[in-house]
Amino acid sequence: MSASRPSAPIEMESSQSPVPLELTGNQFRRIAELARREFGLELGEGKQHLVASRLGKLMRQQGIFSFRDYYQRIEQDATGGALVELIDALTTNHTSFFREQAHFDFLVEQVFPDWKRSGPERIWSAASATGEEPYTIALLAREYFGAESSSLPQIVASDISTRALAAARKGIYREERFQGVLTPWLKKHLLHGEGHWRGWYRMRPEILAMVQFHRINLIEPLPEMGSFAVIFCRNVMIYFSRETQELLVNRLAACLQPGGYLFVGHSESLSGIRHPLQHLQPAIYRKRGGRR
Ligand SMILES: C[S@@+](CC[C@H](N)C(=O)[O-])C[C@H]1O[C@@H](n2cnc3c(N)ncnc32)[C@H](O)[C@@H]1O
Repeated sequence: MSASRPSAPIEMESSQSPVPLELTGNQFRRIAELARREFGLELGEGKQHLVASRLGKLMRQQGIFSFRDYYQRIEQDATGGALVELIDALTTNHTSFFREQAHFDFLVEQVFPDWKRSGPERIWSAASATGEEPYTIALLAREYFGAESSSLPQIVASDISTRALAAARKGIYREERFQGVLTPWLKKHLLHGEGHWRGWYRMRPEILAMVQFHRINLIEPLPEMGSFAVIFCRNVMIYFSRETQELLVNRLAACLQPGGYLFVGHSESLSGIRHPLQHLQPAIYRKRGGRR
């Protein structure tokens, strides 16, 4: 982890965005503090304009035209729905199939072979965004173990963004999302759209059935989910403070079974964080114990 951590993942707005509503420095700091407290997001000062633009869009849709009124609405909303909308508007769900290929090579070459003996294991994709990460795992497992295998893993996928989760559950992607990975073996597991759906692919039902999606906020105490043989927690910790990262990594370690693996993003590193895991190779950690 470099000393200068980037602030929260907010995409650039298009040049055609409407003029942002006025967000004063104080109002920005209140929103940044809320995002840090509720979701662990670190919004650096440089993000003021983008926050104004992102939230301004949401506010306009709701007929709110001042950040004072908007903040008040969040405070008064006992359902928590307004907070969900806030995080949906602020987070970027950038991801892709086979992103950071080395993790998937490791999974197929070093992890799956053991599962032929041990039987089905559980994998958690802990910031699954729009689903490309857990479906990549499901596609590889289906191909590796075959349709009838009793070793097919169960995959739990979670994210904080309800918008991303809704897209992920559908399992429908534009052809461009597969960027050159649409090889014949992969196509076997996808349904090709026709007519109106030309240019789109959908995961086959048996792939969809391998992944269960849940909404989980990684900065809160984790729900009871049992233990996992592998946890992917990639490209989300980079936006958390060091303290939040340490807390999270230790919670994830507690969810790993002995000998289980934690994969973090390649631009994330656990150096300087106190944790019980063994560093195996870049962005791959292992919990001590187990068979190996
Ligand atoms: C850049 S995406 C990473 C997706 C995928 N893991 C990958 O590496 O391609 C980061 C995801 O983290 C999610 N996220 C941000 N804060 C979170 C939190 N506090 N709890 C759970 N998910 C969070 C965002 O909604 C987003 O979908």
